[in-house]
Amino acid sequence: MHIDIVTLFPEVALAPLSDSIIQRARAAGIVEVFAHQLRDWSEDKHKRVDDTLCGGGQGMLLKPEPVFAAVEALSKPETQVILMTPQGRPFKQAVARELSRKSHLLILCGHYEGVDYRVIEALVDLELSIGDYVLTNGAIAAAVVCDAVIRLLPGALGDERSSEEESFSDPNLLEAPAYTRPVDFRGMKVPDVLLSGHHGKISAWKKEQAERRTAVNRPDLRKD
Ligand code: ADE
Repeated sequence: MHIDIVTLFPEVALAPLSDSIIQRARAAGIVEVFAHQLRDWSEDKHKRVDDTLCGGGQGMLLKPEPVFAAVEALSKPETQVILMTPQGRPFKQAVARELSRKSHLLILCGHYEGVDYRVIEALVDLELSIGDYVLTNGAIAAAVVCDAVIRLLPGALGDERSSEEESFSDPNLLEAPAYTRPVDFRGMKVPDVLLSGHHGKISAWKKEQAERRTAVNRPDLRKD
């Protein structure tokens, strides 16, 4: 997979992707990630990429010219163009799985009040939000999307099973609580069933606990 991120803050986008599992996936050639400076496509002599809103309103908007130039320079026929914005579709594990099957992602990061709407109409295949809150810039959100997508690529995780069993593989159920040794820590004990060696009982316990945890932490998932 090849990923291009276009942003005013390339270092912010790359920092979380430069260590641990994701860095190893990059070093192994499973994914190539590039972060590009949007200002490099500005024709303005001061390298400005933003302007005030037509019709009035607070703040600044990314201008269409540099964004169009960046997308035209980096796009291939198979490219999926994504815009990070709080106005986007919610980013879920199912979306991460869909994106992990693409060969080229081009991720545009909003800043200020967002981007000129002509960018969205003409260039963007998918607007994505990582949650119902507003970040200072979309590069942080782009890094989150890249991390979630890259770890799903074949070979990125050492143990292929671990991405299948976790929360959100069943999108309506969180994971059951998990324990490691010591069996007794300050009087807090690992549940007996997990030490029983009885696989049927352990599975039933995990399912019941997963349902309980989901009802407490994410009742919204049960209503879907
Ligand atoms: N840019 C600012 N906030 C964002 C969010 N919640 N998701 C995606 N991009 C953003």
